[in-house]
Amino acid sequence: MNKLTDCLINKNNSCKPVWFMRQAGRYLPEFRAIRSKNKDFVKLCLNSNLSSEITLQPIKRFNLDAAIIFSDILMVPYALGQDVKFIKNEGPILSKINIKQVQQEQNINFKKKLKPVYNAIAKTRKNLSKDKDLISFVGAPWTLVVYMLGLKKNKDSIDLDLLEKKKDEIKIILKKLNEYLKIHIENQVNAGANIVQIFDSWAGLLPEKYINDFCFTPNKKLVQYCKSINVPVICFPKGLKDGYSKFLKEVNPDGLNIDYNVDPQWAKDNLNNICLQGGMNPKILLMNEKNIFEEASKYLEIFKNYPYIFNLGHGVLPETDPTTIAKLVEFVRNYK
Ligand code: CP3
Repeated sequence: MNKLTDCLINKNNSCKPVWFMRQAGRYLPEFRAIRSKNKDFVKLCLNSNLSSEITLQPIKRFNLDAAIIFSDILMVPYALGQDVKFIKNEGPILSKINIKQVQQEQNINFKKKLKPVYNAIAKTRKNLSKDKDLISFVGAPWTLVVYMLGLKKNKDSIDLDLLEKKKDEIKIILKKLNEYLKIHIENQVNAGANIVQIFDSWAGLLPEKYINDFCFTPNKKLVQYCKSINVPVICFPKGLKDGYSKFLKEVNPDGLNIDYNVDPQWAKDNLNNICLQGGMNPKILLMNEKNIFEEASKYLEIFKNYPYIFNLGHGVLPETDPTTIAKLVEFVRNYK
């Protein structure tokens, strides 16, 4: 059994598997080389050969236990008819949603549009050594809605007035997304992915009164679906703070990724009987080796006798030196 699966399903607490969110990305010169020749990010995600090659770039460089397919959570809104553009230093911008179209979108069309992603997974699985896990992912419905309706006011807050105004529309979209995300998960698994991660990157921005309906319930439905098809699932409800323990009770995934604002000791004491993943602040990787290894030791020591997958509390930053990742992987491997 592969290492992440063993940790997630058997709660094996002796191995410490390691991978990184955004392990294939702008910090790698070989990614930037491909990216500079492919200006349209969505098209790049739909190029099966290139997206498979990018997925394998960090695997070639580092001794990682898993590959994560190179794609984006916004490929689902794209497949539902919204144009997706990535503007430098501004993040993704989506064209206005046509709610009727989303409601009527035929499954067959959705699948056809995302077929290159599934082909990339199949190709990657073929070229990835058998002892490594292949992670697929989706955005959680709430986080997708934030982008689909343009609910963000700035980098770390949402427009609460707009949220109130669009409440009914949000509910319709969440319901539709549940259907399509299940299809997307099923297709990724059928193509060869053996783990699912659900990114709820904006969970922490939800007002308390909506947390159940917009975060817990939609995540729970997807987790139950993953369990029904026997694929281990990791949730990442970023920014929930002590809401992580309620999330665990309500949603009950196989694994939970903590962010860098969650105290790891608190997590170990309060998020019991579950495999935990990540936590370390990606900004630490921009500091000197002493700081990096000290911080990594903190996580490795706390989770010594606990099922734990080493990762970060968010994605690898573009400024990160690839050699730092190499050294960190070796440090985790040799930690006793
Ligand atoms: O982790 C991986 O290596 C797999 C690939 C992956 C990408 N996006 C590639 C990507 C994954 C898992 C994602 C998930 C994703 N995408 C999330 C959830 C995780 C998180 O970051 O909170 C979100 C919110 C998105 C939406 C998104 N995509 C944003 C906000 C941006 C722009 C921000 C930025 O870093 O420029 C993207 C673009 C994106 N997705 C890049 C990559 C490698 C950078 C694209 C580039 O080269 O310009």
